[in-house]
Amino acid sequence: MTAGAGTMPIEVVPTGFALGAEIRGIDVRSEPSPEAGEALREAWKQHLVLLFRGQTGLSDEELIAFTRVFGPLQEAPNSEVTAGFGSFSDVPPEVTIISNIEVDGRQIGALGAGEADWHTDMSFIKEPPAGSCLYAIEIPPAGGNTCFTNMHRALDTLDSETADAVKDARCVHDESLTSTGAQRQGVPAVTDVRETPGARHPVLRTHPDTGRKALFLGRRRNAWLVGFEIGESERLLDRLWTHAADESHVWEHRWREGDIVLWDNRAVMHRRDPFDPATRRLMHRTQVKGGRPY
Ligand code: SIN
Repeated sequence: MTAGAGTMPIEVVPTGFALGAEIRGIDVRSEPSPEAGEALREAWKQHLVLLFRGQTGLSDEELIAFTRVFGPLQEAPNSEVTAGFGSFSDVPPEVTIISNIEVDGRQIGALGAGEADWHTDMSFIKEPPAGSCLYAIEIPPAGGNTCFTNMHRALDTLDSETADAVKDARCVHDESLTSTGAQRQGVPAVTDVRETPGARHPVLRTHPDTGRKALFLGRRRNAWLVGFEIGESERLLDRLWTHAADESHVWEHRWREGDIVLWDNRAVMHRRDPFDPATRRLMHRTQVKGGRPY
């Protein structure tokens, strides 16, 4: 598919996996024409993850302006900031830094060099972001790939017994730990999942733009299906998580400097491979504002 972006045509090239498409023929610094903006939002709805290559040298302001094509921006909540998301460097409040780089013995961003488990960004708040937009500024020579899983497809292919058991359930999305398992400052450690701090969201959510249903699991650690006996909650959650992470729903992205990847948190989870902490990885992330999941 092509559509005009100013004078340039846009090409949408699907990854061939369960989700994701590369958008070619666009310089994200130029404001897209109304038709091109519409084509980009349509491609996002259809493919859930969009990749834009070759966008080196982008400023934070340009990244913010580009993200606005997909909706108003959402700042990171305080608990993200105290977990290191963008707090130690001079960036606008809409930008969070994901990095292992240290300056004067302090990490400039969040998540370090470790593995980040499958999760949905900021799902522990009541109105989590609709989308996240991650811009690769420095990439290590190996590791640090990011995988995405299609949660519409995960629900569509779920066995009917599990789907039936959770169709009206809500799940608590833990606020106490980051996706690498680090404790957030000021949030007590969880000793009983029935007391896990964080928003309680429906396990089956409806995408507000397409009406399609998706599994919404958020984060596995300290999760609890509200009101379920703990053993039964664990059994069902294990089943749901194993199924959601099945490779048939997944696309893995190998980063290059200058890549922008935009994903839809309402229908996608992601995870990141670890990488050698002696190498550098620097990403800037913006969030598209979301509403309350239903
Ligand atoms: C994130 O979880 O938002 C960051 C993913 C990544 O570092 O690739």
